[in-house]
Amino acid sequence: MSVDANSEPRPGKAAPTLPVHADNNWLPAPFPEWETLLTACWALDDFTLAGGPTKVIPGTNALKRYPSPDDLLAEDGAIPIECPAGSIVLWNGSIWHGNYSRTIEGDRVSLHQTCTRLSFRPVHFGPSRTTANSVKTG
Ligand SMILES: [Fe+2]
Repeated sequence: MSVDANSEPRPGKAAPTLPVHADNNWLPAPFPEWETLLTACWALDDFTLAGGPTKVIPGTNALKRYPSPDDLLAEDGAIPIECPAGSIVLWNGSIWHGNYSRTIEGDRVSLHQTCTRLSFRPVHFGPSRTTANSVKTG
């Protein structure tokens, strides 16, 4: 496995909602039966519905494809991941997830670590997605 990490602040109420997606970016669908990627999301503050938590659609990992435009609109079966600060949430590259809009002040701060098989290029978004605030708190 190769590992990549980045802090991911989701800034305030003005931040756009992250659309539902599968992390298997650039992998043609249908996805293979074996998983290529694992993401660990470290909640550095409480994940509450008002705080704009990650959403996940259970079972979509079995579909082995990306969400269609209709799936993006419907988000059927989406549930919030609500957990206290310090929790770690894991998901594979096939499951559809995104985030809910934040309705309270402040930033959602989390740390994402993505692990891929050695034959895959690590995902790295670089420091442009890391703010000075997230470095201090994360
Ligand atoms: Fe993702």
